[in-house]
Amino acid sequence: MKQKPYQGMIAILDFGSQYNQLITRRVRESEVYCELVPFDIDASRLLKLKPQGIILSGGPASVFERRSPLPRQEIFDLGVPILGICYGMQVLGYLLGGKVSPTPEREYGASKLYVDEEDGLFERISSPTRVWMSHGDQVKKLPPQFQVLAHTSTCPVAGMGDAKRKLYGIQFHPEVVHTREGKQIFENFLFRICACSKNWTMRSFIEYSVKEIRKKVGKGKVVLALSGGVDSSVTAMLVSRAIKDRLECIFVNNGLLREGEAEEVRRTLAQHLYLNLHYVDAEERFLARLKGLADPEEKRKVIGEEFIKVFSEEARKMGEIDFLAQGTLYPDVIESLSAKGGPSATIKSHHNVGGLPGFMHFKLLEPLRDLFKDEVRVLGRELGLPGNIVKRQPFPGPGLAVRVAGEVTRQRLQILREADKRVQEEMKKYKGFKDIWQSFAVLLPVKSVGVMGDQRTYEYTVALRAVTSRDGMTADWAKLPYHILERISHRIINEVKGVNRVVYDISSKPPSTIEWE
Ligand code: XMP
Repeated sequence: MKQKPYQGMIAILDFGSQYNQLITRRVRESEVYCELVPFDIDASRLLKLKPQGIILSGGPASVFERRSPLPRQEIFDLGVPILGICYGMQVLGYLLGGKVSPTPEREYGASKLYVDEEDGLFERISSPTRVWMSHGDQVKKLPPQFQVLAHTSTCPVAGMGDAKRKLYGIQFHPEVVHTREGKQIFENFLFRICACSKNWTMRSFIEYSVKEIRKKVGKGKVVLALSGGVDSSVTAMLVSRAIKDRLECIFVNNGLLREGEAEEVRRTLAQHLYLNLHYVDAEERFLARLKGLADPEEKRKVIGEEFIKVFSEEARKMGEIDFLAQGTLYPDVIESLSAKGGPSATIKSHHNVGGLPGFMHFKLLEPLRDLFKDEVRVLGRELGLPGNIVKRQPFPGPGLAVRVAGEVTRQRLQILREADKRVQEEMKKYKGFKDIWQSFAVLLPVKSVGVMGDQRTYEYTVALRAVTSRDGMTADWAKLPYHILERISHRIINEVKGVNRVVYDISSKPPSTIEWE
């Protein structure tokens, strides 16, 4: 782990709470750099990061369980301020000589918090203030030298602190929006207690990143798969700013793109990014390999394999290449870490991290791996990327193949493209469009009976999917107005040959996923 140049970083010890990413985002929104680190990190590794503060995150465990995750005792002796949140507070209570007990009933939801001590962590916080609780254990007896800072009607120690050693614990979750003054509580910790300064901005990130890329790449050459999406375009911009034309970009048209997309991406990229761009039309190859396959995992596997083949054939033509640049983001990194056995439950192992086959001897360059999607968008703007790229909705690597449920054929792809085009056109007219994370059509392998004019029809069904989300890891179905749904349905059924029914997908993630396959 290497120290980043953003002085005043905050290390967040990861005890596996589902809200950990939110803690990270809240801290960064206050322009302080932070990173999630393993909960059992030792003091010397931690000190290498030069943290100005430490946050002990929440987590699903209870300190009473036999193998509950606990930090090393030595981190309490570093003289670095610590804030324990929920499970993190119980860890403080448990390890520093207080008493933690299970509550008779799990407390979950909004509570009124009364502030007992206004100095420090609760400065400028109203009393009462609304906070969000989610816990089964409570600190019943304070550790020596601690005092109660806040309470609720059911939780006598909802906030505790030892101002001298700068150790603090809060039972509620300041990172979720339901805690009304959560931002102020974080800022009290960051600026009053840890004395951090605001220096995490995308401008400082560019400066740092360009230097790092130059150092790492030296005189080497870099290749990058450009999809026209936000992540790969921003990666390309950043890398090319660092090493100019020693970056080669490959755009593979796999035949699974949306209507007109290949041309649009090529045109925009050529207009705005002065990149070495190699365009490969590989539609036939992909469709041939997909023939007869209906299983989602098989489809994904074949597409991944074919992509690597096409990409490496193209890269080989370029002579000696040293690095492969990828637009891996921080959530991918966190997900892969948890998949490798961290304390959180595994959701899925991700497609974008560590997927290089052995015969490609490139080293990896992942300049966005510390960033969240919204930070990448700000970075893109800062680098001068046009709005139509920065604001693009995410589009999956395997493209429309995961939206044609079942076998992918040229004919079905065409039906889906036609339907999807109408979804895009209508959604762009919707005034709430900017709040939609993704909106698209899915072609189902189900035919149903309909009537058009006096004729009986027996045609395909299209599912409309539109979700809101902050990072794609969880999502809610979008509450689109009826008139938008009506318009989309009307246009698809009347204008797209082969479709006689449109349904709206009202499932959230979890337990569903955003894509259908
Ligand atoms: P799911 O369907 O897992 O998708 O809820 C979460 C987000 O990831 C996108 N997605 C992918 N992106 N390669 C990608 O680059 C893929 O194989 C892939 N599969 C899903 C999806 O569009 C959503 O934004």
